Amino acid sequence: MILAAGAGTRMRSATPKVLHRIAGRTLLHHALVAAHELQPARTVVVVRHEREAVAAHVAEVAPHALIADQDDVPGTGRAVACGMSVLDATTVAAAVAGGQVGDRSVLDLQIEGAVVVTSGDVPLVTGELLGRLVDAHTEIGNAVTILTAKVPDPTGYGRIVRGTTGDVMAIVEHRDATDEQHRIDEINSGIYVFDAAVLRDALAQVGRDNSQGEMYLTDVVALAREAGGRVGAMIAPDASAVEGVNDRVQLANAGAQLNRRIVEAWMRAGVTVVDPATTWIDADVTLGEDATILQGVQLHGSTRIGSGATVGPDSTLTNVAVGDGATVTRVHGLDAVVGDRATIGPFTYLRPGTIVGVKGKVGGFVETKNARIGDGAKVPHLSYVGDAEIGEGTNVGAGTIFVNYDGVHKHRTVVGAHVRIGSDNTLIAPVTLGDGAYTGAGTTVRHDVPPGALAINSSPQQNVDGWVERRRPGTQSAEAAERARRAPGSHEGLSSGGQGPTHEGES
Ligand code: UD1
Ligand code: CA
Repeated sequence: MILAAGAGTRMRSATPKVLHRIAGRTLLHHALVAAHELQPARTVVVVRHEREAVAAHVAEVAPHALIADQDDVPGTGRAVACGMSVLDATTVAAAVAGGQVGDRSVLDLQIEGAVVVTSGDVPLVTGELLGRLVDAHTEIGNAVTILTAKVPDPTGYGRIVRGTTGDVMAIVEHRDATDEQHRIDEINSGIYVFDAAVLRDALAQVGRDNSQGEMYLTDVVALAREAGGRVGAMIAPDASAVEGVNDRVQLANAGAQLNRRIVEAWMRAGVTVVDPATTWIDADVTLGEDATILQGVQLHGSTRIGSGATVGPDSTLTNVAVGDGATVTRVHGLDAVVGDRATIGPFTYLRPGTIVGVKGKVGGFVETKNARIGDGAKVPHLSYVGDAEIGEGTNVGAGTIFVNYDGVHKHRTVVGAHVRIGSDNTLIAPVTLGDGAYTGAGTTVRHDVPPGALAINSSPQQNVDGWVERRRPGTQSAEAAERARRAPGSHEGLSSGGQGPTHEGES
């Protein structure tokens, strides 16, 4: 059972606390992943604040989980009581559906066994730690087992009150604690395992006689003891892993700690991370052996980095698949695929739908969108490639623009294999360039180019001799031109070279 009904007022946010994200997942999603690793018979999330948003998120990331609505009575105790009602109700429903009702009254059916309660705001607890808590609980035969921690500053937490023999007697909330209890450094993590029957009986007795007027789940501990149950505690080996997130400072700290854990796990799995402090890897990212991550890299979402690939420095990739042995240098990429041994960057913007083939190249100051760039094809410099298909082995000259937008609609450009597009071309879609075609520098391609044809449409160059000295007299350009004309070896009066006709006059 994951408690997620609180408002999280200390976040000061329009977004519910449990929907804030670290390592690419919400706090609640982290809690759900840890819970899932226990392979529980049922999972229930208790909601109230921003109910629709939280429930919709649960349906998205953990569709198997049940939702329990907490009513107007505040407090963690009430939250668990509401969760228990839903678990019992589904037990009844399952029994009816399975025809297993027999002699027992359907309405008397209740869940049995261990109930693990965690919080939606404690994202660093692993399934492994929860598993150890459950094992301790069942091996000892406890009624309640609490995950606790010893922390340097216990302010704000519930304190674990132990008797002279070391037995756990009660949990006292910070606001209700005596001065002496305030000095206790063992705190309640808010994570517990309860025997279902003990929990149900104790919750029925929990009142609201405390400083906050809430039903405290923590009161169950003393009540379970009074009923003769055994209460145990397991001290977490790493106290920082059970810290809750209540404000944005703690959110950032939890994010940094989780990132360190993720980055270290990848280093142990054979990835070179040059600067762990500036490398951010989301929980769902995967990396191959001998990948190298240089300084200042953020890998988000479902990004996959192939073996032997190098990413960075200073790159942000979200849902990008990078092939084996590829090189990605100073790139901003989203929803894109980079083939094996391809090279991207520096200063390249890969937008959604970009697919670069094996050994393809997308170079400096190039932006691509919805573009398939074939194996070994190159777009090396200063280009925009939008809504395009580029065949294998084709080279796109510097400064080429794929004009995909007529102001109303987007159109596609198809470039065949082994095409040579000259520099500074404008390809006006929809247009097709056949295999092996060439285009001259500065061509505006408005019509299809057949395979093997050369397309040129730049007008012949005209040189107007002496124009600068006549029309811009006294300028540095005119003086430079005059010096060049008078220099030994220059042939005064000889018209300069060029393809076009020479004009004596002015045009
Ligand atoms: C709680 C514990 C405290 C423990 C601390 C650990 C109680 C009374 N206190 O205090 O002993 O040290 O967690 O982090 O349990 N929630 C609901 N419904 C509610 C109130 C809260 O579902 O009516 C949920 C919250 O969304 C949150 C969790 O319960 O996920 C804990 O609530 P919070 O208000 O943060 O409790 P703390 O004051 O931190
Ligand atoms: Ca809390």
